[in-house]
Amino acid sequence: MATKARPVSKFSPEQPSEVLDRVLVLEMVRVTESAAIAASRWIGRGDERSADRAAVEAMREALNRLAFDGRVVIGEGERDEAPMLFIGEKVGTGEGPRIDIALDPLEGTTITAKAGPNAMAVLAIAEAGGLLNAPDVYMEKLAIGPGYPDGLVSLERSPTENVEALARAKGVKPSEIIACVLDRPRHEALIRELRALGCGVTLIPDGDVAGVIAVTNPETCIDIYMGQGGAPEGVLAAAALRCVGGQFEGRLVFRNEDERARARRIGIEDVDRVYRLGDLARGDCIFAATGVTDGSLLKGVKRLPNGRITTESVVMRASSGTIRWVRGDRVGDPPKR
Ligand code: FBP
Repeated sequence: MATKARPVSKFSPEQPSEVLDRVLVLEMVRVTESAAIAASRWIGRGDERSADRAAVEAMREALNRLAFDGRVVIGEGERDEAPMLFIGEKVGTGEGPRIDIALDPLEGTTITAKAGPNAMAVLAIAEAGGLLNAPDVYMEKLAIGPGYPDGLVSLERSPTENVEALARAKGVKPSEIIACVLDRPRHEALIRELRALGCGVTLIPDGDVAGVIAVTNPETCIDIYMGQGGAPEGVLAAAALRCVGGQFEGRLVFRNEDERARARRIGIEDVDRVYRLGDLARGDCIFAATGVTDGSLLKGVKRLPNGRITTESVVMRASSGTIRWVRGDRVGDPPKR
């Protein structure tokens, strides 16, 4: 029987959002730059809290200068636990388009404190209602880069089945597949299964937004991202993949009844649902990130001896598939206003 050809996943342009047209794409970079520069003072200082606080304050201040009516849907936590950039906080001047914002002013607080790789300041924006309001629980994640048939891998299948399917589609042996996984005890069984197939396993200490995005960049040699990380980070990574292509699936993981209740409170009824890219970030969206420490996606902030500060950022948009790399070079920290 002839098999039906499946569509190949590649970048598929979205209708441009007029709402997002009114938000200057490059303004998003200013926001992530401010947070990254503020956090960079704390690189290698062993102080996660101060690094995070500096990034949060700088990002909030930069957002509040922008002419939009923004609402944080993924932020620093619920209102009672986060003083700034909490879920539901209004940001921007309040005048202009209504947009939803998912943000992580410092993705990789521990990395920053230890001067490890891949810490970034990250945000994604979409029209109001365009980003999943994910609870702060774990998410099982699975991601592959662009160019493969839709549905090639799935959370409904075992890691072995997914690796074998990917290897077949890539035309290599399963042992030639490289998987990226967060280095956590909860992933012991997964890592054992991957190693039994002979796969290369790149273990990252933290920072799975960069880990997921790495599957879209052949230079990283990473073919597949697997394992559990934060659900909010899953939405941010999905927004990036909406812009550059690739496949992503996520399923919330609840460790207790309290976490389940938290999800229900924010309107998630089907707690076992498998979310695909378009469920996490719908329609047109913009993703921006600035490196704090050097990583697979971006170079980190460099504070040079003559007072110069250099940054590297990326900003991408789903409707056009445009990816802009922005290198900043300034003298001194941005002034506080
Ligand atoms: P922070 O920015 O909060 O330090 O998060 C870093 C991170 O590694 C994320 O990239 C990842 O999704 C999550 O933590 C994993 O959580 P855990 O450290 O509990 O395994």
